[in-house]
Amino acid sequence: MSGKVVLISGGGGGIGSAAALAFAAAGYAVVVVDLLAESAERAASAVREAGGEALAVTADITQDASVAAAVAAGLKQFGRLDALYNCAGGTDPMDGNVTDVPLEVFDRTMNLDLRGTFLCCRHAIPAIIAAGGGAVINMSSGAALRGASPYHVYSAAKGAIISLTRAMAGTYAKQNIRVNCIASGRVQTDRIIRTWGTLEQAAKGGDPQDPVGRQREYPFWIGEPEHIAATAVFLASDGARMITGATVPADGGRSAY
Ligand SMILES: NC(=O)c1ccc[n+]([C@@H]2O[C@H](COP(=O)([O-])OP(=O)(O)OC[C@H]3O[C@@H](n4cnc5c(N)ncnc54)[C@H](O)[C@@H]3O)[C@@H](O)[C@H]2O)c1
Repeated sequence: MSGKVVLISGGGGGIGSAAALAFAAAGYAVVVVDLLAESAERAASAVREAGGEALAVTADITQDASVAAAVAAGLKQFGRLDALYNCAGGTDPMDGNVTDVPLEVFDRTMNLDLRGTFLCCRHAIPAIIAAGGGAVINMSSGAALRGASPYHVYSAAKGAIISLTRAMAGTYAKQNIRVNCIASGRVQTDRIIRTWGTLEQAAKGGDPQDPVGRQREYPFWIGEPEHIAATAVFLASDGARMITGATVPADGGRSAY
């Protein structure tokens, strides 16, 4: 073990649970934080079965006291915190154009994606400073880089996370903390498959404009949770020593061409 500790919000989800395993393989003890106790426990158990150390914590990242308690639980168990991976988030199925979207969707999405990321940083960064520095990895989306997304609230929330990443990088470099962001492309997690279908379903006649439908043309546009998890582990590692304030477009080139 490296003796390092990472806290992963949404650690019971598709990308989050893959990240829990990937960080554990890199020697981190993992604090798996999720709204769903069963998901958090499943991901933590998978880490332990793979020979790593993990603590499952049930918390709501939109609630200040809940996030404070989650960070405290991690510190109590492992004694330090070196990295934060803000992975909890996602689109609301009712998201849409600015002119039509229900305002409840605006509040829900901003709360989960932006406020949740903000609160986790607020409570985890002092612990990372106390450990002598480390890394924060935020989760944005290709939707924040491209102008084509019809999900305006999600795009705005994920765009704000890119700006927050830069601001925090500028501030906390002095405390030896690097802050970066992953703008993920389409990753076939259960949540995404429920909404958009499997690659096989898409091959049988999906929306030709949808990235899944165009997978034969642009195979890197669609990824698996492990691909994003590997990017997060890299950004936390010493190999990324020169990378801070950056948004890595891990979208298979979709925002580039
Ligand atoms: N999957 C994709 O295609 C894709 C693309 C771009 C960006 N992203 C981003 O990657 C991240 C992970 O996506 P995913 O597909 O793995 O999602 P997911 O739904 O599989 O996982 C999200 C996890 O967050 C948890 N969660 C939800 N609300 C919470 C709350 N209030 N407090 C604590 N935990 C909460 C859920 O229980 C779930 O386990 C999200 O931020 C998403 O916006 C995903």
